[in-house]
Amino acid sequence: MLIDVPDTALTTFRAMWAELDRIGVHPTGTRRYSWTAEDAALRRWFTAQASARGMEVHTDANGNIRAWWGGRPADGDAGVVTGSHLDSVADGGKWDGPLGVLLGFLAVDALAAAEARGEFVRARPVGVVDYMDEEGTRFGVACLGSKLMSGVLDPEKARALTDADGVSLTEAMRAAGADPDRIGRDDAEITRSGAQVEVHIEQGKQLVGLEAPVGVASAIWPHGRWSFTFDGVADHAGTARLVDRKDAALPFASTVLAARAVAEELDARATFGRFHVEPGGPNVVPARVVALLDARAATDEVLVEMVDRIASAAREAGEGHGVEVTVAKISHAPVVEFDEELRDLHGKLAAEAGEYLPEVPTQAGHDSGILAPVMPTSMLFVRSPHGISHSPLEDAADDDVIAGLRALTRSLAALAGDD
Ligand code: GLV
Ligand code: MN
Ligand code: MN
Repeated sequence: MLIDVPDTALTTFRAMWAELDRIGVHPTGTRRYSWTAEDAALRRWFTAQASARGMEVHTDANGNIRAWWGGRPADGDAGVVTGSHLDSVADGGKWDGPLGVLLGFLAVDALAAAEARGEFVRARPVGVVDYMDEEGTRFGVACLGSKLMSGVLDPEKARALTDADGVSLTEAMRAAGADPDRIGRDDAEITRSGAQVEVHIEQGKQLVGLEAPVGVASAIWPHGRWSFTFDGVADHAGTARLVDRKDAALPFASTVLAARAVAEELDARATFGRFHVEPGGPNVVPARVVALLDARAATDEVLVEMVDRIASAAREAGEGHGVEVTVAKISHAPVVEFDEELRDLHGKLAAEAGEYLPEVPTQAGHDSGILAPVMPTSMLFVRSPHGISHSPLEDAADDDVIAGLRALTRSLAALAGDD
């Protein structure tokens, strides 16, 4: 039987949304970063939502927090997990992440109502998860919580990561009352999670083009972050002759343009979204520029070629200006193909409901992508009317949100129900 969602779902969604809006939302956008006061407030909100539904809350060693409907599975047992993340990029939108967490709780409401009507029998617990630091805004590495949990990030390296103020992950976790010594691969939590279905706002316009309110993710492009450091020499902005300068900003500027040209040629993406100039004086020739390249491509071969070419362009420009260039890889996530059985399940259930559910790839990174090699994961995307994301302009229509909730609920019913 196809389980529908309660008529009250949209009202509940709006009420939950209004509460979340009080946390870290500024006129310029959403600022929710890991292990901050906002993060603590989000965890309290999450816990209150869970308690209101009689769900058992547990925070794992890596700071990922889960609420279990039906009780937290014992060691060695498996449930089914949904959810996403509550952190944001700097001055981001409100949908990237929270949508999946909210719909996770609302899907539990729908299943509980169906259970009360005798239309659903739960065979295993359903967990709603909020992963720690998905965006990597504070410490520079995206999907920190899932990378640690799956073992692709070395705990020693993670502990040493620092934020813009020089605060390390170790210090930030301790200040928030968490224990950094326990972070790392967590096989027990991987087993307990069983399988994961994450709902996320689509971060592009594919679903708009396909006129579909909801889609299934097929794959994630390989992507990563590289640091580019340009070392020149500080000098007087007035008296230093142009010909004598070693201005670190000049090769950096050339590199930004080169990245755009190479990405265009390879049909890929390259972005320098974070950089700073030292010493940063208005009347001082820049001595140093430290910049982060975010690079994504359809295949790893193209990604490697693109980064190599951007690095060569940076070094060449550096030589031309007497500036030393250092390039270092910060993180890399290989291509992800989401679990075929889960994708087929979403497709089958949509067909039964007479709904169109296209498969679309994405260039955005997600915890479900990081976890795909260690457990079955899939993603459902909700249409974004103008495709803009990582921006306060991020949006979704009510009907599309409910369509996403319906798709999630029926999938969880199939995965957690009596079979
Ligand atoms: C996460 O949103 C990413 O793709 O950077
Ligand atoms: Mn994001
Ligand atoms: Mn996200």
